[in-house]
Amino acid sequence: MATILVTGGAGYIGSHTVIELANAGYDPVIFDNFCNSKPAVLARINKICGKNIPFVCGDIRSREQLEQAFNNYKIDGVINFAGLKAVGESVKKPLEYYDNNVNGARVLLDVMKEHKCYNFIFSSSATVYGEPDSVPLTEESPVKRANCPYGQTKVDIEYMCQELQKAVPEFSMVLLRYFNPVGAHKSGLIGEDPRGIPNNLMPYLTQVAVGRLPYLNIFGNDYPTPDGTCVRDYIHVVDLAKGHVAALNHCLNMPGTHIYNLGTGVGYSVLDMVKAFSKAIGRELPYRFAPRRAGDVVQCYSDATKAKKELGWSATLSLDDMTADSYNWQKNNPNGYED
Ligand code: NAD
Ligand code: WQD
Repeated sequence: MATILVTGGAGYIGSHTVIELANAGYDPVIFDNFCNSKPAVLARINKICGKNIPFVCGDIRSREQLEQAFNNYKIDGVINFAGLKAVGESVKKPLEYYDNNVNGARVLLDVMKEHKCYNFIFSSSATVYGEPDSVPLTEESPVKRANCPYGQTKVDIEYMCQELQKAVPEFSMVLLRYFNPVGAHKSGLIGEDPRGIPNNLMPYLTQVAVGRLPYLNIFGNDYPTPDGTCVRDYIHVVDLAKGHVAALNHCLNMPGTHIYNLGTGVGYSVLDMVKAFSKAIGRELPYRFAPRRAGDVVQCYSDATKAKKELGWSATLSLDDMTADSYNWQKNNPNGYED
């Protein structure tokens, strides 16, 4: 079966996707520079897969390091998870975000073109929809100028992919717009391991649950939603990983630009998440209401029908799975991957 280069494959979503690719019979090759992950993840991936997954240490901005991967393996397609993703940090370091994300994707696509490798899957984000005019969001909903450099890199890379596809029509460009990935592999061996205090809700909740943080701050309880807190489409990372396999199965060697939302189609509020998490751990999780966080959209959830219809994929894991698996990972690894 096809060999797939997984750039950023040591990261949170990448590691879960490598496992689902291997389960589905693809041959993944991991490419990562560990700027936001740890080498310890590789042995865990191998343990879950029951075999050694090849690894190349490199930066997607380095043509030479990419060449090493393309020369050593016959790569049929690339899934590009490699990118920086912290919204707040991107405001302080816009040039780093443009260099790593946009320039990195540019170099990667150029090397692919040279090697006549025309299958590209890109980790995009629901952030490209900005503050939605209406929900649920379909793939036809307008893409807006982002409110932070991180989000804008997603908008710009999507545009670059679409333009390249027009110029080099052999390309199959798949733009997957993730909603809010949470959860972890059932084994508890791999999961999300943010550096420092987490910015995102689920890792913050899990760290409160294991006592690393005292309580959750809920950013805003006066939004125009049923309980006043913001609504998001949380999707289990294993469902998301399987969405990549479905996208590959459908789009491999199918020239064109293919855009899919990867979400569940259901929105949950921050308070819904706290309640579900409290249920998973069997006690009330402490929280306080805090002021709104700048830049938060009120509601964001997907219309997931296109992926279901065309890829035959839909999310199957429940909110209880998401919270239980996140907690299981954090409980087994209270300090994440300790190298
Ligand atoms: P992550 O930080 O856990 O994984 C990214 C991986 O890429 C890390 O292992 C990092 O070391 C590697 N990397 C970064 N820059 C690199 C470079 N220049 N060369 C080689 N490797 C590099 O993040 P994640 O949550 O797994 O996200 C993966 C992708 O999905 C990112 O592009 C992110 O923007 C996108 N995305 C994430 C979310 C989310 O909420 N997690 C939502 C939407 C989109
Ligand atoms: C979810 C909700 C917060 C932390 C971000 C990026 C987005 C995408 C996914 C990559 C919001 C609230 C959070 C906390 C809280 N990433 N919250 N207390 O903001 O939907 O999306 O990650 O593309 O681009 O913006 O996710 O998990 O940060 O927040 O109350 O300590 O939880 O205000 O309503 P978000 P999140």
